[in-house]
Amino acid sequence: MQIPATLLPAFAESFGGRPRLFRAPGRVNLIGEHTDYTGGLVMPAAIDFSTWVAAGRREDRTIRAISEGFPGTLEFSLDRTPKCQGNWTDYVAGVAATLEAAGHRLRGANLLIHGEVPVGSGLSSSAAIEVATALALLKNSDLFLEPLQFALLCQRAENDFVGMRCGIMDQFISCFGRQDHALMLDCRSLTHRAVRLPAEASLVICNTMVRHELASTEYNRRREDCEAAARIIGPLRDLTLETLERRAADLPEPVRKRCRHVVTENVRVLQAAASLEESDIKAFGRYMDESHRSLRDDYEVSCRELDIMTELAGRLPGVYGSRMTGGGFGGCTISLVESGHVEDFVNQVASGYAIETGLTPKVYVCRAQDGAREVSLLECAVT
Ligand code: GLA
Repeated sequence: MQIPATLLPAFAESFGGRPRLFRAPGRVNLIGEHTDYTGGLVMPAAIDFSTWVAAGRREDRTIRAISEGFPGTLEFSLDRTPKCQGNWTDYVAGVAATLEAAGHRLRGANLLIHGEVPVGSGLSSSAAIEVATALALLKNSDLFLEPLQFALLCQRAENDFVGMRCGIMDQFISCFGRQDHALMLDCRSLTHRAVRLPAEASLVICNTMVRHELASTEYNRRREDCEAAARIIGPLRDLTLETLERRAADLPEPVRKRCRHVVTENVRVLQAAASLEESDIKAFGRYMDESHRSLRDDYEVSCRELDIMTELAGRLPGVYGSRMTGGGFGGCTISLVESGHVEDFVNQVASGYAIETGLTPKVYVCRAQDGAREVSLLECAVT
């Protein structure tokens, strides 16, 4: 774990003194996409990009926050409800306001935010800043919360303050991630188990470098489609493909297709987890490919760039499977690649994508990480 080199000097310059440090990771979802908000199954892993928060205690009840990557200063008193600004400060203000509203009386804090998770790339930079901020604010106030409460409060901040009706997956994995493991999470019962990732394969994330405008409106629209379906045929989590086919006439299109994705995706997650546990990486890869097709054709949240990236990946040697990851309409794909082929994969996928789209992608080879925590200066090197 390496503390970003600028963090301590920048904190000293802006606020003075020596802060405590907290970090929370972004995530990549291996399979189980657009299922969390209907109580379905997901299988994310925390990645080695984090949001860092350096925090110093204040004697008053003021929160003052600045970011190393974005302009603007957030300053408000915890005795008043902060206003939404439509920028990064909303995640910090939203978390503080949500914690206070839930009865956790906070102390004032000076916060410096440093984000490594690429913003708008579908790797959940928002959950990372929420969870890191929540951890910093609570520890700064000598308060303790169970990680599950943590994740739920951060999700509430995003739903109610930021206005994004996300599910629980991102905040949950940012809290509960485990090194070299993915989490098999049931988003209805919130029970989870860690599934070891195969040592002989690498997670390779390819950033398409596009994010289409409709991402957040279409996200909320998909949720509405699922809610409409649930009012007609009951909770999607309980739905089987047989029942869906029998009741097909009761559902208008595209709602029927949306349901087909959710139902088949939940089954795929179960099968994918079982195949990993049986060390059948090839089968796991096939479920990834199927998941992408379902997201593209039935859920309709992919886009040209994501399809190009997965198709290119699928043609390269050593690739077990490849799919879009996150909300869609741009952002990243995730591929599972045999370790010996990773270097060639990175070069070839990047050049192929550049030729087909004219865009230069970013490719990250990542390793699953532990979830959010306080970082002691003693355990870390400063880069
Ligand atoms: C976003 C949301 C998650 C989840 C995914 C799609 O990342 O924040 O809750 O719904 O999209 O799987």
